[in-house]
Amino acid sequence: MKTIIEPFRIKSVEPIRLTTREERQQHLAATGYNLFGLPSEAVLIDLLTDSGTGAMSSLQWAAVMRGDESYAGSPSFYRFEAAVKNLMPFKHVIPTHQGRAAEAILFSIFGGAGRRIPSNTHFDTTRGNIEASGAIGDDLVIAEGKDPRSEHPFKGDMDLERLEAYLQQHAAEVPLVMITITNNAGGGQPVSLANIRAVAELAHRHGKPFVIDGCRFAENAWFIKSREPGQGGRSIEDIVRDCFSVADGMTMSAKKDAFGNIGGWLALNDDGLAEQARQHLIRTEGFPTYGGLAGRDLDALAQGLAEIVDEDYLRYRIRTNAYIVERLDAMGIPVVKPAGGHAVFVDARAWLSHIAPLQYPGQALAVALYETGGIRSCEIGTVMFGRQPDGSEKPAAMDLVRLAFPRRTYTQSHADYVVEVFEEVAVAKDRLAGYRIVSEPKLMRHFTCRFEKL
Ligand code: F0G
Repeated sequence: MKTIIEPFRIKSVEPIRLTTREERQQHLAATGYNLFGLPSEAVLIDLLTDSGTGAMSSLQWAAVMRGDESYAGSPSFYRFEAAVKNLMPFKHVIPTHQGRAAEAILFSIFGGAGRRIPSNTHFDTTRGNIEASGAIGDDLVIAEGKDPRSEHPFKGDMDLERLEAYLQQHAAEVPLVMITITNNAGGGQPVSLANIRAVAELAHRHGKPFVIDGCRFAENAWFIKSREPGQGGRSIEDIVRDCFSVADGMTMSAKKDAFGNIGGWLALNDDGLAEQARQHLIRTEGFPTYGGLAGRDLDALAQGLAEIVDEDYLRYRIRTNAYIVERLDAMGIPVVKPAGGHAVFVDARAWLSHIAPLQYPGQALAVALYETGGIRSCEIGTVMFGRQPDGSEKPAAMDLVRLAFPRRTYTQSHADYVVEVFEEVAVAKDRLAGYRIVSEPKLMRHFTCRFEKL
């Protein structure tokens, strides 16, 4: 069969309601055109994030009932730990309430003033935790990874030459080497198995531990299977195990590729470091057999990990994005290509070229998608990154709009609807106005700042 269908049927539904354009305009005015401020009932298709927004399966809901809420030694923890170790062969698995909590623990050990941590591209919370510790985060993705039009199959790869030079130059300052799979901040682009192995080898040759931010590990493994020479005949589980077996640790947001609504973990091989991490965990998250989660969450994650490596699911998952990217591309809308794993990224600076970067073309597009069709997306550009530490403002490297797809939540007709909304926006796009910011907090302004239409 040619059609790649949703490999599930629907047992429980959650109604969504189409508001009128006037209602949406009122909501926009009330929230100062900041989509983070919208009540989610006023959103029809919510593509703000793929984090914690996926649908759990019937077996996950059954696992929730099985959850054991004992403070210490819960069997839910041991089922969770076994499910993680089945895919990622680390010696110590430390549960946290979400990914950034794992990062905070990791950098309480490895961070600190005078240190530098390289990665392909650190996600915002990873960078935030590195910088909060006094250290510096550096992004060393390959050049193709920053070119929205490059069709390189692994645009998330680390630039090995730059990493080698970096490790020589900063030998004393680097406590570990990281890589993010897939590269979320770089468009959800994958990292090849060859690159993961080469980065591990380089890190180890320089005596540095290698840690993977594994949030979207299954999507990354699907890209390895479908694009990397010699990997096509292998199972997703085998590819995942290969990726993590060369690492010394990982951080994870289980709100992505573990089908969780909440959860995360830090995994490590070294006994001493794991002991230090558990001490921190007890102080900030909870006892090591629950770590900030309920027993029922741990059981839901154990089941989610068994489901996420299913090839029918991954084929459908990756196809949804590719389908929308193909349709938008055919309409002449500049999109990041090839399609990433969890989201479609539109190059708003190129599409709305009449809006200057400091008048936020990404925000203008995100607001237009909501006003036109009730779709919530996310600006990833000058609003998010434009404010500099010295208080000045400059255009971000790119002005993108991200449409991130919750897992197993929307169907093909929702995808077609998204394309139709773009068609309608395209008709009036040259008349869209830019914005100016009228109030903003000191840090992470995109969450709460307010805008005025120009
Ligand atoms: N690392 C990556 C690559 C991420 O994408 C995220 C979260 C985190 C770490 C932090 O995990 O949210 O569980 O604390 N990304 C979400 C997003 C928020 O929308 O991309 P968390």
